[in-house]
Amino acid sequence: MLRGTVVCAVLAGLCVIVSLRPASCQLSQEDAESIVVLHNRYRGRVVPSAANMTEVKWDEKLKIIAEGYAVKCVWEHNPDLEEMEMGENLFASNAPFNTNKAMEKWFLEYLDYDYNNNSCLEDKMCGHYTQMVWAKSQYLGCAFHRCDTMEGLALEKVNFLVCNYFPAGNYVAEKPYEEGEWCSMCPETLPQCDQNLCVPSDDVEEETKDSSSPGPELPSTHTATNDTELESASQFPHPTMTDTKETGTELMDREKVKEDQWNGEGQATDRETVRTSEQPQSNVGSVTTSLIAIIGLVALLMLEL
Ligand SMILES: *[C@@H]1O[C@H](CO)[C@@H](O)[C@H](O)[C@H]1NC(C)=O
Ligand SMILES: *[C@@H]1O[C@H](CO)[C@@H](O)[C@H](O)[C@H]1NC(C)=O
Ligand SMILES: *[C@@H]1O[C@H](CO)[C@@H](O)[C@H](O)[C@H]1NC(C)=O
Repeated sequence: MLRGTVVCAVLAGLCVIVSLRPASCQLSQEDAESIVVLHNRYRGRVVPSAANMTEVKWDEKLKIIAEGYAVKCVWEHNPDLEEMEMGENLFASNAPFNTNKAMEKWFLEYLDYDYNNNSCLEDKMCGHYTQMVWAKSQYLGCAFHRCDTMEGLALEKVNFLVCNYFPAGNYVAEKPYEEGEWCSMCPETLPQCDQNLCVPSDDVEEETKDSSSPGPELPSTHTATNDTELESASQFPHPTMTDTKETGTELMDREKVKEDQWNGEGQATDRETVRTSEQPQSNVGSVTTSLIAIIGLVALLMLEL
């Protein structure tokens, strides 16, 4: 009887802790919106101009997959990407997380990219950029997780962002988009032009809004919520598995990752190793600690009764 009460009290306390946490480690609605807005802004500003750049839309299924992967805190690509025909950009940093900054970092790779011969400067990474502006990738979903430690990355308290794209970009020998006058070669399904991007015609948009989010047709057997499956899937040999030394400089990418990515694996990685002594979310920790103390006291009081 008493034990039951204690267990209940502890459980209730745990619920409070659990419900306190997500707010601080999930991507906010605002962040999600700005990720989409920034992608579209960048897509509408590529040089040379794009004849068939499409608008990207947020997709809940991609978001859920990204969430399932982000919590794993592994500095490698989701091994299921290929099978799911999905692209992925990763961002890790122990500086305070800023969506605009992360998006800008990816986009600025255009400086090292040459559209004419579709190549990236030696020892540079352009894969985040090309995935961002890949005309065929029309859906996007991202997730954020704060990782105390990360497998494969010698940083602590890492802000980890995972963005998944569908269909995947970065195919070998394919350019991210067709060069030409803006919107001059839009696909039939996206005949209208809005801020340099191919978008559905107004009436189609109305229809799609009504029918509950058609989204991309992802293989339904793969959902990030099935832990068992993800565990087993992560044992698949992964093409980007190579070690690199932690150098402590910004934006160091694994050679092999870069190479594979550039060979069209539809993947890209990024890390930021700016070290800051700041721990912006330490207040969460102290709230949790005091809650545990309170729960402990409550439990003791109940035992006394
Ligand atoms: C691509 O073109 C640029 C500019 O002309 C040149 O500097 C670069 O070496 C070329 N890269 C490849 C791989 O051909
Ligand atoms: C846009 O152009 C690229 C490059 O030519 C092509 O591979 C792709 O199929 C086109 N995308 C769309 C959505 O029409
Ligand atoms: C998860 O996936 C595995 C492997 O495909 C399957 O055996 C298992 O039944 C699934 N579990 C749930 C809860 O769907």
